[in-house]
Amino acid sequence: MTAAGTFGYGTEYSHLFDIQKLGAIVCKGTTLQPREGNPQPRLAETASGMLNSIGLQNIGVEALIKEKTPIWAKWQVPVIVNIAGETVDEYAELAHKLDGVAGISGLEVNISCPNVKAGGAEFGANPESAARVTAAVRAATSLPILVKLTPNTGEIAKVAVAVASAGADVLSLINTVKGMAIDITTHQILLGNKTGGLSGPAIKPIALAMVYEVAGAVELPVVGCGGITTGNDAIEFIMAGASAIQVGTANFANPHAPLDVLEGIEQFMKKEGIKDITKLIGAAR
Ligand SMILES: Cc1cc2nc3c(=O)[nH]c(=O)nc-3n(C[C@H](O)[C@H](O)[C@H](O)COP(=O)(O)O)c2cc1C
Repeated sequence: MTAAGTFGYGTEYSHLFDIQKLGAIVCKGTTLQPREGNPQPRLAETASGMLNSIGLQNIGVEALIKEKTPIWAKWQVPVIVNIAGETVDEYAELAHKLDGVAGISGLEVNISCPNVKAGGAEFGANPESAARVTAAVRAATSLPILVKLTPNTGEIAKVAVAVASAGADVLSLINTVKGMAIDITTHQILLGNKTGGLSGPAIKPIALAMVYEVAGAVELPVVGCGGITTGNDAIEFIMAGASAIQVGTANFANPHAPLDVLEGIEQFMKKEGIKDITKLIGAAR
């Protein structure tokens, strides 16, 4: 799969390679109203990664339904809509609006967003608020639900268990890791939003350890994400317990990255004489 926010609506890439070969496309984070996003600068390169504070710039759910879903409905590749809200009710309303719309195969619930009614802590930082969002989305849609976990918590396994009991079908992880950069010539914090999310190969070991922990804590399928750039990276996540993976930041350096990862997985399997990828799930456990 492609990771949310790193592959647009899929349409931007359809002329570059045969995106229908992918397992699924997860589209840009979508909110009830269109959003302009955070003040510039919103991107900073780091050692082996990048910081972003895009702030969920997007066209809003109504425009998504009107302009994007009719295109997706003609595609073979399933499209999963990533949703984000500032309150539990906003998540539920989004899920309700997207339920039954042709061209949407599932929802990925981004719980890394600040809970505006609770002082801005991430919904996904504690099991109770993560479960409340999940239960509200579950009640509002019959679509399959992936809940996307944040690494910015000390209790990711507890959050995973709570979200699983609240009705998630799949868990995806990880979202970006909170970080900062400072320009020492201007003495200023580099990002307009002060902090941003770290992604790319820099976070791969963190993501891998969290996938391992979560896959051991729940029965649900787990989708691994974080720094995956090659087929071999993907195989590591699968061996840690992931049933599928997402490619994010790698798309910015190489728009063919998802296909390269897919081909890399196939090459590894051929070399090792493995016919069925499911035999590798959790192989390192
Ligand atoms: C520019 C950018 C925008 C992102 N937007 C979203 C988003 O809208 N919703 C979401 O759940 N995750 C978003 N993410 C997080 C990625 O989907 C992914 O979880 C994270 O970057 C780790 O994977 P990676 O290292 O392969 O990029 C974004 C990441 C980046 C770099």
